[in-house]
Amino acid sequence: MNLLKTKSREVWMLNLKPDFPALHGKDFAFLDTGASAQKPKTVINAMTNVMNDHYANIHRGLYDYSQQTTTLYEGVRGKVQSFINAKSQNEIVFTRNATEGVNLVAQSYGRRFLNEGDEVILTEMEHHANIVPWQILRDQMGIVIRVIPVTDDGVLDYDAFEKLLSDKTKFVSMVHTSNALGTINDVERIVKTTRAHDKDIKILIDGSQSIVHGAVDVQALNADFFVFTGHKLYGPSGIGVLWGREDVLNSMPPYQGGGDMIETVTFDRTTYKQAPARFEAGTPSIVDTIGLGAAIDYMNALNMGDVIAHENALLNATMDGLGDDIRVIGTANHKAPVVSFTIDGAHHSDIGMILNQAGVAVRTGHHCCMPLMQRFGIDGTVRASFGIYNDMKDVERLLSGLEKVKKLLL
Ligand code: ALA
Repeated sequence: MNLLKTKSREVWMLNLKPDFPALHGKDFAFLDTGASAQKPKTVINAMTNVMNDHYANIHRGLYDYSQQTTTLYEGVRGKVQSFINAKSQNEIVFTRNATEGVNLVAQSYGRRFLNEGDEVILTEMEHHANIVPWQILRDQMGIVIRVIPVTDDGVLDYDAFEKLLSDKTKFVSMVHTSNALGTINDVERIVKTTRAHDKDIKILIDGSQSIVHGAVDVQALNADFFVFTGHKLYGPSGIGVLWGREDVLNSMPPYQGGGDMIETVTFDRTTYKQAPARFEAGTPSIVDTIGLGAAIDYMNALNMGDVIAHENALLNATMDGLGDDIRVIGTANHKAPVVSFTIDGAHHSDIGMILNQAGVAVRTGHHCCMPLMQRFGIDGTVRASFGIYNDMKDVERLLSGLEKVKKLLL
């Protein structure tokens, strides 16, 4: 680890770029981890090793290759279980991504247990992945969607949430950490308030961004479902996780039918395995899942306190360095290393292109959060999102890139 200095204080910083081949020795600042993170060599190796050494389909072969690959694949379920402190491996369902987790819950739990007129509460800062699946369900079943508003700082209005709760509320589905604002929501407070109102209301947390920037303990969170995706956690795309309480998962019908999720099939009738298998129809993303296991190993080898200190230092240095002519969207006190901003008189796409020429990769646009952008009266922002491999040079490059932007556009 290297000692670097920020404007405000001296802190120990992680020095992880050498572990990431796409970044090591490259002359640019990758500030789009919120969209998808770069992969450490250990993840890339784990994925190529299984294909080089003993690749075969899982759960289906008595021969060595299949057994070895099955052991590696199922071992990842255990890694995920301890990573999020789930009670049992049976609570870990592998999905394609977080989006598929939300769709699975909406279509399986929602169609079985919700009725016309039942209310589902979302927040104004949801990603489209936690809005559209509920709208599809609304159009199928006549459920009603209610929305917790966001304040000017990009914080949830918790008082408004309490007023939204009623005897019609049957489900709360919300993001843990906003991909567009960086706000870390007080989900513990939402869960407590919801449980006090009615213990039968189900709660889903979208942890796609939170799991990357801090430790997650699903038992402590006390929700019913938690989803995240592998590719933001320094693992591959094509693999995500749905955690659900075992009894709740086993009360839900399958989402998709196919091989590996059945006990017996006749043309008259099929019986299904218990969770998680009942939700994993077909050959899964075997290699990606093994990559996710390696990503979890990589994260486990770091100290989460160091990760948080490192990322906070990057966030603080960026916030300190932005001039008054930059409007930050999302100024919550409790915030992940995500800085979304606009500059009056400059379009976010133009800013993004000039930053690219300056060797800075950021995301621009609505960040799959159109309702949130509407809330702030804008059509998009420039978003710099940091990961464990970023360093102060990346911050400096962003800040000097923005000076260039201002010279060219204002
Ligand atoms: N949800 C991802 C993002 O925030 C793709 O960019």
